[in-house]
Amino acid sequence: MSSTGQTYGGSSLGAGTTHQETVPDVDVTGISPVPAGHLVEESSADLSIFGEDIVTKAQEIVARYPQSRSALLPMLHLVQSVEGKVSQSGIQFCAAQLDLSAAEVSAVATFYTMYKRKTCGEHLVSVCTNTLCAVLGGDAIYKALGEHLGEGGKRLGHNETVGEPGAPGSITLEHAECLAACDLGPVLQVNYEFFDNQTPESAVALVDALRAGEKPQPTRGAPLRDFRTAELELAGFWPEDEVDYRSTVDGPSAAVETLRGAKLAEDRGWTAPAMTDVALPEVEKK
Ligand code: FES
Repeated sequence: MSSTGQTYGGSSLGAGTTHQETVPDVDVTGISPVPAGHLVEESSADLSIFGEDIVTKAQEIVARYPQSRSALLPMLHLVQSVEGKVSQSGIQFCAAQLDLSAAEVSAVATFYTMYKRKTCGEHLVSVCTNTLCAVLGGDAIYKALGEHLGEGGKRLGHNETVGEPGAPGSITLEHAECLAACDLGPVLQVNYEFFDNQTPESAVALVDALRAGEKPQPTRGAPLRDFRTAELELAGFWPEDEVDYRSTVDGPSAAVETLRGAKLAEDRGWTAPAMTDVALPEVEKK
């Protein structure tokens, strides 16, 4: 984009012109990609859904950080553990806890795809359709799941849910960017736990098991939980029997494929050249 002469709302942003100096003459709500019926008025926020227990947890999150606003990301996960989404009430709750404006919280909540605008199913199924997984079969898996979970001849689309959202057996489907497991592609995640080396057939069998109330064991890592429990864990809260819990969560996560390069190098005695000493710049003390 050119740095001069760009026009916004009838005003020209040229050299030496600031955004503050421009006077928008466009009704932005008129061109908003969000349909009018989806805009929620602040007055409709109901904070009573966040009970004492959630307020206590929110305060625990705030206490972890030197500056309270740093607590926003885990607090949004906490909110999602209650509602299965970040609603206008959730935004107001976070804003009140952190002394931020609703606009500041909304800006963050709408930027990251892990924060959902619509209530998620009991399970969130994320299919990687980024380049490597796509060519290995990720696109075919996503298509097969959409067709299998769809109803009335309509394929289930991105961020759509089959079943009553949040009810047992309900599933929200999404396509995802690289899930950082390209060596095990095509992969999908259920509530952020990995299922590696999938095929359309194995993925369909997996969602059938989820619909039937089963919790298939992920390929590696922690046992499968529902979306809201996973959100509580992302907010940093574990069950009280933490030792027992950790013994189940600390499952094997290193895969043979992931370590193959390191193993080859070890077997053949390959090493990387030593790093030369580079003086690091002084960092100002805070
Ligand atoms: S492309 Fe799918 S995990 Fe990287």
